[in-house]
Amino acid sequence: MADAISVTGLVKRYGEKVVLDGVDLRVASGRVCALLGPNGAGKTTAVRVLTTLIRPDGGRVEVAGVDVVRRPREVRRRIGLIGQQPAVDDVLSARENLVLFGRLHHLGGPGARRRAEELLEQVGLAGTGAQPVRQFSGGMRRRLDIAAGLVLAPQVLFLDEPTTGLDPAGRRDVWDAVRDLVARGTSVLLTTQYLEEAEQLADDVCVLDGGRVVASGSPRELAAAIGGDRLELVVGDPLRAAEAAAIAGRAAAGPPAREPDGGGERVVVPVQRRPGVVGAVVRALDEAGIAVDDVVLRPTTLDEAYLWITGHDRTAAEVPA
Ligand SMILES: Nc1ncnc2c1ncn2[C@@H]1O[C@H](COP(=O)(O)OP(=O)(O)O)[C@@H](O)[C@H]1O
Ligand SMILES: [Mg+2]
Repeated sequence: MADAISVTGLVKRYGEKVVLDGVDLRVASGRVCALLGPNGAGKTTAVRVLTTLIRPDGGRVEVAGVDVVRRPREVRRRIGLIGQQPAVDDVLSARENLVLFGRLHHLGGPGARRRAEELLEQVGLAGTGAQPVRQFSGGMRRRLDIAAGLVLAPQVLFLDEPTTGLDPAGRRDVWDAVRDLVARGTSVLLTTQYLEEAEQLADDVCVLDGGRVVASGSPRELAAAIGGDRLELVVGDPLRAAEAAAIAGRAAAGPPAREPDGGGERVVVPVQRRPGVVGAVVRALDEAGIAVDDVVLRPTTLDEAYLWITGHDRTAAEVPA
């Protein structure tokens, strides 16, 4: 079977500005790929090219085996897009909206009603399906948007920041809906600013920064390849924390991070896991007379790897442009 997405050397410019600068991306059929990156990285632009809404300036782009420039209509028949703009009617109920979508897509009355019920259930709106959408909260609207995008169970589904602004329960509903769809054979490309979302949903992660792919692999591979492990120490006396960080830093593969922890400080140091690394650090601290309340060696999180890769603070990346 053809790859769900195959992108080679994709270039997109707006005037003088190069927004996508030679992007390569491959998503095998049946897989979920998360496109991560700070604001302005080019995620939405990439999704717009892949969904035929804008034309690329260079490179080759195929979706479900079909060229987006030469055969855009065929591409559109095979894809679903859930963008950041809602596509539902306020006056209608959620159920009516979904039935309408189904009918617009030639499902027929009974088929459209059946699909509407399934989708309401799937996104957690079964109990409120009769209420006019104008009474919905932001999270409920987003769930309905997603349900509308799922009406046809598309071959490849694109979701541009599907859970931005949702509460944790709403986010889980969306994740369940996506998983359900994947189980039925849909391939997914989603953009997200939430690392947890990538970890929860994606087989593969692709990090975009400044219009280029700066890292890709499974979430686990990415976290492991970039950062190794993290050694965490809790130092009870905050006045000794800088010294503790310097001592631990001798065993480190990168600069230590520090944050307050109770009355003391937590020092986090990237290390390459090897026998004796924890013992050596604890002994050195003991020799310096620094009391350590807690020691932990754990894998690097995707969050930390992401920060490492992009050099961008994720809190800053969450501020809308
Ligand atoms: N229609 C447009 N005209 C000019 N510049 C644009 C347009 N759309 C996006 N850009 C610019 O392209 C860059 C990437 O934007 P975008 O793809 O929306 O990034 P992301 O979705 O990763 O936040 C940004 O610098 C943005 O300002
Ligand atoms: Mg965007």
